[in-house]
Amino acid sequence: MSASNNVTPNDLSAFWMPFSANRQFKKAPRMFVSASGMYYTTADGRQVLDATAGLWCVNAGHCRPRITEAIQQQAGELDYAPAFQIGHPKAFELANQLSAIAPEGLDHVFFTNSGSESVETALKIALAYHRVSGQGSRFRLIGRERAYHGVNFGGISVGGIVPNRKMFGTLLTGVDHLPHTHLPEKNAFTRGEPEHGAELADELERIVALHDASTIAAVIVEPVAGSTGVLIPPKGYLQRLRDLCTKHGILLIFDEVITGYGRMGTPFAADFYGITPDIMVTAKGLTNGVIPMGAVFVRNEIHDAFMTGPEHLIEFMHGYTYSGNPMAAAAGLGTLATYKEEGLLTRGAELAPYWEEALHSLADARHVIDIRNVGLIGAIELSPIEGEPTKRAFTAFRKAFEKGLLIRTTGDIIALSPPLIVSRAEIDQIVSMIREILTDLD
Ligand SMILES: Cc1ncc(COP(=O)(O)O)c(C=O)c1O
Repeated sequence: MSASNNVTPNDLSAFWMPFSANRQFKKAPRMFVSASGMYYTTADGRQVLDATAGLWCVNAGHCRPRITEAIQQQAGELDYAPAFQIGHPKAFELANQLSAIAPEGLDHVFFTNSGSESVETALKIALAYHRVSGQGSRFRLIGRERAYHGVNFGGISVGGIVPNRKMFGTLLTGVDHLPHTHLPEKNAFTRGEPEHGAELADELERIVALHDASTIAAVIVEPVAGSTGVLIPPKGYLQRLRDLCTKHGILLIFDEVITGYGRMGTPFAADFYGITPDIMVTAKGLTNGVIPMGAVFVRNEIHDAFMTGPEHLIEFMHGYTYSGNPMAAAAGLGTLATYKEEGLLTRGAELAPYWEEALHSLADARHVIDIRNVGLIGAIELSPIEGEPTKRAFTAFRKAFEKGLLIRTTGDIIALSPPLIVSRAEIDQIVSMIREILTDLD
């Protein structure tokens, strides 16, 4: 352990932690001080098995040498280059490598610094695209109930998680929502894609009938909704949505912030489902979570529609100081090299059947009312304590941490997404630890 790891902050009040129960945390802090492969080490020297890839982002496992070295070298070579009107080679190299692994036709990449910024960027590209292509009346954005698209205003407007929206005023206008696809009464304990619910995509027809297609710019969905508790699309649902968008000239945006970079056993969920969106939003696994970065992939015709007018003019009035910055680009290149060398963008496909079997062995565990899985994603839904929703799962999270397992909970759902390097033995360990925790849970 390095000297810096021994420092335990004695005043935790200044840092207002994101999406955290601050007061409870500060009474009993949970701190990680180092990590390697599948494990974190806590401030009190315990090993914690990572069943969530950090926050769905550390797909290659922790502190991987290629990525660490790439960042170290970059920091001493070119720390920062202005993002506007000037470039540096690694951003172009990364964009090229990304377009090579992206679904066909999505050959242009806009860099951001997070999933939330990628969502805003995608929504703005969609609106501006219609305007530059002579369809400026298309201003409406369609999201979905229970969706998570980050925390910025566009994202929470098209998102559908009530507590994330209700405090923040009127949000964007001109937004409508499709129904969510979670039908536990019909689909509980489904392995993989649920049978029922494809027809929920047809709700887009109702929205089109209400507003007219000529006012609708884009539909944004997570192919698999993660943060809201792992909602897996019913068989045929995404294809129906794709067909309806095409029929009505509406752009389809996939938010692949958690499904991108191997999580589904394919490079992207678009590959898994065989459906190409018009715009694809990514972040997290792009740099293995090491340096913040997002990438928005855009269909060639959309990109090309902007490339008109006098050449000295900026084509798209959008960008961030850190779009494609050298450190993030180096981290991205190191990450892609690691993914390629270890076959991680497709390793999930080999492991998925084992993962599915292991997870569903918990069907008879205490409090479990549903189990869902796809790729290397899993969810175990618990019955809520009456009158105290979320408390049971959050207690499971705290007990798991004490036992040496990192899980993630949302509502009363345990969401699992281990690094793609996870072994079969580690999958067994995750499942048996969860069974023990649930057995002892009130
Ligand atoms: C589907 C989806 N979109 C967007 C985001 C936001 O990403 P970030 O936290 O990097 O802003 C997330 C984060 O979990 C996500 O799951």
